Amino acid sequence: MRTLTELRDHIGDCHRCPLGETRTCLVFGVGREDADVMIIGEAPGRNEDLRGEPFVGAAGTLLDELLASIGLERDEVYIANILKCRPPGNRDPQAGEIETCTPFLREQVALVAPRVIVTLGNFATRFVLRTDAAITRLRGTVQHAGRFEVLPVFHPAAALYDRTKRDVLFDDFRLLGDLLAAGPDGPAPEPVQTALFGGEGEER
Ligand code: URA
Repeated sequence: MRTLTELRDHIGDCHRCPLGETRTCLVFGVGREDADVMIIGEAPGRNEDLRGEPFVGAAGTLLDELLASIGLERDEVYIANILKCRPPGNRDPQAGEIETCTPFLREQVALVAPRVIVTLGNFATRFVLRTDAAITRLRGTVQHAGRFEVLPVFHPAAALYDRTKRDVLFDDFRLLGDLLAAGPDGPAPEPVQTALFGGEGEER
């Protein structure tokens, strides 16, 4: 696939997994096609399922505030999820759904080719970094996955009613701001995890 539009067309009216039966809208992803920052969440919730756009509910409002805190607007980044369709009742994504859906996310990552990937919460972090480590351990640390810098942070939904997590999220976004300001030739963070995307020779 050469463009995000081609990829979206290829996915079509997807019924590759059972979520195709229960969703309203498929939520492909939004934002700048050549963004420096790609944000990866878990799966569409109710509002996203109705609108066909990621992070348009309360967690999305907090995400917009986090971006604004480092001078970024939503349309300057690219936002996508591990799953493109809402799991009924917002249950956790299942292994088979992740396996079926994430090849498209990998293509989105390859096409956008961001400098930094911000993973929101456990599902996105575990997928991108191929780790079982919990977000509580990894958050706020700069990791490497192939040629990408990866910053795991709490999922904004988990911080909506938790003041402490909310403060930590703002701290971690400040780190994202610092990382971007330092530029690609800034001080190299220690690579901690092995790669998932686009590294030399490694495939999944
Ligand atoms: N939570 C997510 O992980 N993704 C969305 O798009 C909305 C809420």
